[in-house]
Amino acid sequence: MKKIIVKLNDRSYPIFIGKNILSNKELIKKINCNNFAIVTNKKIKNLHFSKIKNTSLKKNVILLNDGEKYKNQDSISKIYNFLLKNKFSRDGCIVAFGGGVIGDMSGFAAATYQRGINFIQIPTTLLAMVDSSVGGKTGINHALGKNMIGSFHQPSAVIIDTEVLKTLSDRQFNAGMAEVIKYGIIEDKTFFKWLSANTEKIKSKDTDAMIKIIKKSCEIKAKIVAMDEKEKNIRALLNLGHTFGHAIENNLGYGKWLHGEAIACGFLIASTVAIQNKTMKVEEYESIKKILEAFNLPTKLPKGVRLKKLYETMSLDKKVKDSKMVYIIPRGIGSAYITNKIKKGLVINALNKHV
Ligand SMILES: NC(=O)c1ccc[n+]([C@@H]2O[C@H](COP(=O)([O-])OP(=O)(O)OC[C@H]3O[C@@H](n4cnc5c(N)ncnc54)[C@H](O)[C@@H]3O)[C@@H](O)[C@H]2O)c1
Ligand SMILES: [Zn+2]
Repeated sequence: MKKIIVKLNDRSYPIFIGKNILSNKELIKKINCNNFAIVTNKKIKNLHFSKIKNTSLKKNVILLNDGEKYKNQDSISKIYNFLLKNKFSRDGCIVAFGGGVIGDMSGFAAATYQRGINFIQIPTTLLAMVDSSVGGKTGINHALGKNMIGSFHQPSAVIIDTEVLKTLSDRQFNAGMAEVIKYGIIEDKTFFKWLSANTEKIKSKDTDAMIKIIKKSCEIKAKIVAMDEKEKNIRALLNLGHTFGHAIENNLGYGKWLHGEAIACGFLIASTVAIQNKTMKVEEYESIKKILEAFNLPTKLPKGVRLKKLYETMSLDKKVKDSKMVYIIPRGIGSAYITNKIKKGLVINALNKHV
C-alpha cells in the first residue's frame, strides 16, 4: 500500500492507494470516528459493497440517484435528512463512495452539516481517484450553472482501491486518463513519456500501472494544492484545457461529451496556442495528439459547434478576471504557465485548426 500526505498544516491528510485495501479492517479502524454515514448510489452499492461488508463503514447507507443531473440541492437535502433523523452529531463522519458526483455532494454536505463535519473519500472512478477526491473542492450544480454552489472542505482521508476500476467502462476510464495526461503536461515530462510508452498496459488496467499513475497524479495534485489551497494563483495550472473544455461541454449540452473528453480536446487547442507563441514544439503537440488517440480521446472539436458561440461561452468562464481571459498554456511538455495576455486572434486560429 502506498501513502501520500496532502500537507495543509492542521488539515493535512493521507491518501492510501493499493489493491483490495477496502477490505483492510485495520486501515478502516485507524479512521477515528464514532459514526459513519456512507453516501453512494445503487450501481456502486451493487458492484462494490461486498468489499466493505466486514468493516465498520457499512453501518448507515444513504443512496442517491446516479448522474450529474442529480448533483443538486435535493440530493443534499436527502443527506441532511438522514443525518438529522439518525441524530448525527459533530463527531460523525460522511464517507463518499463513488465517482466525482458522489464525492462533490458528500463533501459539500459534510462542509455544511452542523458547520462542518469530517468526511472520507473512497473514489471509484479514475477521474475521482486522480482529481476530484483530492484537494477539497466540494459543491453542487445550480440550474443556472455547473458547480456554482460549493465550499472548500478537505477530507480527513482518501482511500483508493485499484480493484474497483475493473468494473468502470472504457469510456469513463479514458476520460479519467485525460486528467492523468494533463498532469504530465503541466508538471512532469518523464511521467508523460512513461504514459506514452505504456498505453497498452494502462488500458488493460494492470495493477502496478494503476498504482503508478494514480500515485503520481495524486502527488502532483497534492503538491500544487499544498502551495495554493484556495486557487489564488498556481492551483489554476490544474485547469489546463478547462476553459476550452467547459465551453465545449456547455455548448454541446452537458453529458454528450464527458468532462475528460472535453478537456483533452481543450489542452490540445491550448497546445496549438503554445506553438503559435513558440513555447511548444510541433513534435510535442504531435505526441500529445498521439496519446489522446491511444485512449480514444477527441482531437477535434465536436461536429456542428459554432466557434463564435464557443468563444463567447469561454469569455463567461469563472476564470475571467478584470474582463481579461485567463489561459493556461503549456511551456513544452512538463511545464505550463498562467497568462491573460493571449490575443483573441490566436485563440480563434487555434480553435479553427481543430474543426
Ligand atoms: N472537486 C473537484 O476538484 C472536481 C474535479 C474534477 C471533477 N469534479 C466533478 O466530478 C464529477 C464527475 O465525476 P466522475 O467523472 O467520476 O463521474 P460520476 O461520478 O458521474 O461517475 C461516472 C459514472 O460511473 C459510475 N461508476 C462510478 N464508479 C464506478 C465503478 N467503479 N464501476 C462502474 N461504474 C462506476 C457512476 O455511477 C456514474 O454512472 C463532475 O460533477 C465534476 O464537476 C470535481
Ligand atoms: Zn477536470
